[in-house]
Amino acid sequence: MNRRKQIYLLGFMGSGKSTVGALLARQLGWPFIDLDTVIEAGQGATIRDIFENAGEPFFRQLEQAALTEIVKTEPVVIALGGGTFVQKPNVELIHELGGATIWLDCPAEELRQRCSTMDNRPLFRDRESFIQLLEQRLPFYRQAEFRVATEGRAPEEVVQDILRLKAF
Ligand code: S3P
Repeated sequence: MNRRKQIYLLGFMGSGKSTVGALLARQLGWPFIDLDTVIEAGQGATIRDIFENAGEPFFRQLEQAALTEIVKTEPVVIALGGGTFVQKPNVELIHELGGATIWLDCPAEELRQRCSTMDNRPLFRDRESFIQLLEQRLPFYRQAEFRVATEGRAPEEVVQDILRLKAF
């Protein structure tokens, strides 16, 4: 298969996209791009500030614009945001390009625990809304080409599982 050397890590907040992505890129000797970091650098503001000052719809526009730019890179490992693969134009763009999409799957309670110590997540509020949002997104995440279970696993173990997929 003549596949582009692009790996897209997707999944909910706390699934380890950024940590696993950086490690995976190092193992492969490929550049790593974290979509949220690109957005923050472009705006000179944190994700939380962007949400608070300009609202989620504006954040989604920034996210789509940043994604459109970074997909030009190859080879690359890209960590998407938790909501990126839920927006139709983003899903279409990623599928068109033909890189490998990998869902880092993790149960709700572990995700919640992992997020509880981080304060740059405007969509992380109470338990109920967290779980509700996760459930809304599962059908989108399931469209990923590969799924890797991350429950109780260290980032290094997840990286090894991804390398074994022979997805690229
Ligand atoms: C979001 C997840 C965040 C960030 C923004 C919106 C979401 O990324 O893009 O807060 O919609 O789930 P992480 O998944 O890296 O936390």
